[in-house]
Amino acid sequence: MAILLPGGAGYIGSHTAIELLNSGKEIVIIDNYSNSKPEVLESIKKITGKDFKSYNIDYRNRKELEKVFEENNIEAVLNFAGYKAVGESVQKPLEYYDNNIIGALILLETMRKYNVKKFIFSSSATVYGDPETIPITENCKTGGTTNPYGTTKLYIEQILKDTYASDNTWDICILRYFNPVGAHESGLIGEEPQGIPNNLMPYIVRVAAGILPQLSIFGDDYNTPDGTGVRDYIHVVDLAKGHVLALQKLEKENQGLYIYNLGTGKGYSVLDMVKTFEKATNQKVPYKITQRRPGDIASCYADPQKAKQELGWEANKTLEDMCRDSWEYIKKNQTK
Ligand code: NAD
Ligand code: UD1
Repeated sequence: MAILLPGGAGYIGSHTAIELLNSGKEIVIIDNYSNSKPEVLESIKKITGKDFKSYNIDYRNRKELEKVFEENNIEAVLNFAGYKAVGESVQKPLEYYDNNIIGALILLETMRKYNVKKFIFSSSATVYGDPETIPITENCKTGGTTNPYGTTKLYIEQILKDTYASDNTWDICILRYFNPVGAHESGLIGEEPQGIPNNLMPYIVRVAAGILPQLSIFGDDYNTPDGTGVRDYIHVVDLAKGHVLALQKLEKENQGLYIYNLGTGKGYSVLDMVKTFEKATNQKVPYKITQRRPGDIASCYADPQKAKQELGWEANKTLEDMCRDSWEYIKKNQTK
């Protein structure tokens, strides 16, 4: 029996692949490498000392996807495939709806055909829009997404709820990630955004490495302790471990739809992040304060109690760990 990971060569999928292999699971990865490189698979094998099958296919290709289900004894699917760049989604909404939503539909239909009904979905805190209350619990209202990327997450969540309502032999887990950062401690795998990054941590590491001249801090007049935006940064390895526990939950409960926030429950500001990064890595991060970024909110952090109580999951790594591991990864991979 194997766990299928569409998008398993990507940032979060590759870290989750390691945790699944380390927990004794067999895995199969499918990826079209639109936002990753096949070499990642070798790194996963090197880190874990374990082998696994992989397919270079687009998960929207029904025929090829069916072949994967024919050739392997798949027991569950963790879907990491999709596009994730917020700004790009505004420019290319149709591509985003196609890859994320059509992809999810084809995957779910194929699972149903082969009677594989355990599914874990990578959702995002973005579904809460501008949150009603902070810390955010799973019961907070969703909606009010401000870009097509966020809307794909909202729609797929609804598709999953409707699927479960129509047939409760499905076991579905929706994981709402907060802000994943960091890299595997080996320095062999990490995040590789293409072009100039939009997100804070990849931007900071590139400034520290001298690839970009300085960080722009988008506004210091928010209603937060130091005026800069507050977020719940979570180490990608902690996040990956959450998937292993979510899978165990689905295996144990057998039939249900569950939703969990995966965050640390702690909010850090942009300035906290810059200072912690400088301390953890001994590198300078020059910055200037600029205008607010349109669509940004002041504060967003999770109430992670439900995941703790029901999955036994808790984030253990500190902001220093996240900064150090992100830095180690770029140092090792800068020349690639
Ligand atoms: P990523 O881009 O690193 O990984 C996605 C992987 O899917 C890549 O390897 C890409 O090549 C592959 N892929 C894309 N389209 C495909 C297709 N049609 N067929 C086959 N493979 C395809 O992204 P990530 O950061 O690892 O995110 C994984 C999931 O988690 C995504 O759904 C993302 O929206 C979600 N998520 C990410 C974050 C974050 O900040 N990284 C936050 C919340 C949610
Ligand atoms: C991003 C995504 C969001 C997703 C979330 C969690 C965008 C626009 N939004 O939002 O959809 O749900 O991650 O994965 O990509 N900042 C700077 N300078 C920079 C970059 C960021 O000051 O160069 C600030 C931002 O204003 C924000 C904080 O840093 O206050 C974090 O930004 P970012 O890493 O982009 O994450 P989110 O805004 O939470």
